[in-house]
Amino acid sequence: MTTTQKATAALEITDLRNDKAYQVPIADGAIRATDLRQITGPDNEGLVSYDPAFLNTAACRSAITYIDGDKGILRYRGYPIEQLAEKASFLEVAWLLRHGELPAQGEYDAFVHDIKYHTYVHESLRKFLEGFRYDAHPMSMLCSSVAALSSFYPESKDIFDPQQRYMSIIRLIAKLPTISAFIYRHMKGLPYVYPDNDLSFSENFLSMVARMSEPKYKSNPVFTRAIEILFILHADHEQNCSTSAVRVVGSSHVDPFSAVAAGIAALYGPLHGGANEAVLRMIEEIGDVKRVPQFIESVKQGSGRLMGFGHRVYKSYDPRAKIVKKLADDVFASVGVDKDLAIALELERIALEDDYFKSRKLYPNVDFYTGLIYRAMKFPTSFFTVLFAIARTAGWLAQWEEMLLDKEQKISRPRQIYTGPGERPYVSALKTDRL
Ligand code: CMC
Repeated sequence: MTTTQKATAALEITDLRNDKAYQVPIADGAIRATDLRQITGPDNEGLVSYDPAFLNTAACRSAITYIDGDKGILRYRGYPIEQLAEKASFLEVAWLLRHGELPAQGEYDAFVHDIKYHTYVHESLRKFLEGFRYDAHPMSMLCSSVAALSSFYPESKDIFDPQQRYMSIIRLIAKLPTISAFIYRHMKGLPYVYPDNDLSFSENFLSMVARMSEPKYKSNPVFTRAIEILFILHADHEQNCSTSAVRVVGSSHVDPFSAVAAGIAALYGPLHGGANEAVLRMIEEIGDVKRVPQFIESVKQGSGRLMGFGHRVYKSYDPRAKIVKKLADDVFASVGVDKDLAIALELERIALEDDYFKSRKLYPNVDFYTGLIYRAMKFPTSFFTVLFAIARTAGWLAQWEEMLLDKEQKISRPRQIYTGPGERPYVSALKTDRL
């Protein structure tokens, strides 16, 4: 846009390099980075915006999840997370994330039926899993297995066919718990337990994890409820690292199994989904409530971070952390209090009073307590992020589809600021086997 065109809401920019003035329209509280391209300097190159790690760049329009980091608000399609965690089922939330509205009874029943119908995995995938070493990291196994699923469903490449998209979404939500439970059994050297489709989504998952010789699995209702709530809390979180990975990879129009595998890879990292695992390792390292002040001091001196604290978006209490703290109380009331919970409570108490954390707006995030709950349920530490991935698959898929159907989206391709050498001739004395 040039100075002669007037926008109702616009940013006026004067380029002091040449005194030229520009108007850049503002819509929805944003300017379009491509509108900066018209601002050219002496080299005739258009201006770019430089934003490593996307600290202030909206990469899409999305109607799925709303977060207000300062007020500690999280809503899926307008519904507060607290109400969904209290009353909804995970599959209802998965439907809501994709469709934007709560399902009618008939829609819900059909969705649940389709999910249950697709819980089984191809036997070759089971054999594929057996190829992993027993001590392989479960996220590494999960990422590879989900990528491998793509080879079982070549028709899923037809991403602009709504029926194919539907099938892929159903298959991914339905099979993630089965694959995850098979991974658990593989780690333990236990025989795989096949899905029991009489059970609910969460109970069936616990059955595949824990069932032994009993003909019908009966889970601890406190555990089933905890899993259902944790799945809801983790189902989506707008444009986080793994969701952005799914969107970026999906923007190449690859099949959704491959895009979700990219999301799992991103989630594996300790700064993202791996944080709950890191919280427990930190608590183990502290070992005793008495050592908490000393540990906090070492964090303040810069040796490591207080894992489970801080968030890129929440600059007040993470609303999910409040729900999870309450859930931890219920689970510990069922299995007995753990010394690690005492360490966690003391860490939280001291950090919340300390100026270092207060001034940086570092509060407990969702991962601070989830690890303790999972451990109370006897999940191995390395498995925690797998539980996160089962839930987040619902959000990744809703975001993937929204991206695909968004007419403004193209293949993701950020710009760069080149900082390397200028042109120079190739001169080398190296001996190589090049023909
Ligand atoms: N412990 C100690 N200091 C911290 C922490 C922490 N957990 N987090 C941030 N800081 C400090 C950081 O050193 C910096 O201090 P200074 O200004 O003196 O240099 C300041 O706070 C700002 O940090 P930042 O790295 O610019 O913040 P960020 O928004 O880039 O990082 C974060 C967000 C989540 C990566 C970070 O807070 C962190 O590493 N937390 C621990 C890991 C964790 O719990 N991750 C789970 C995130 S929630 C799950 C999810 O949604 O994926």
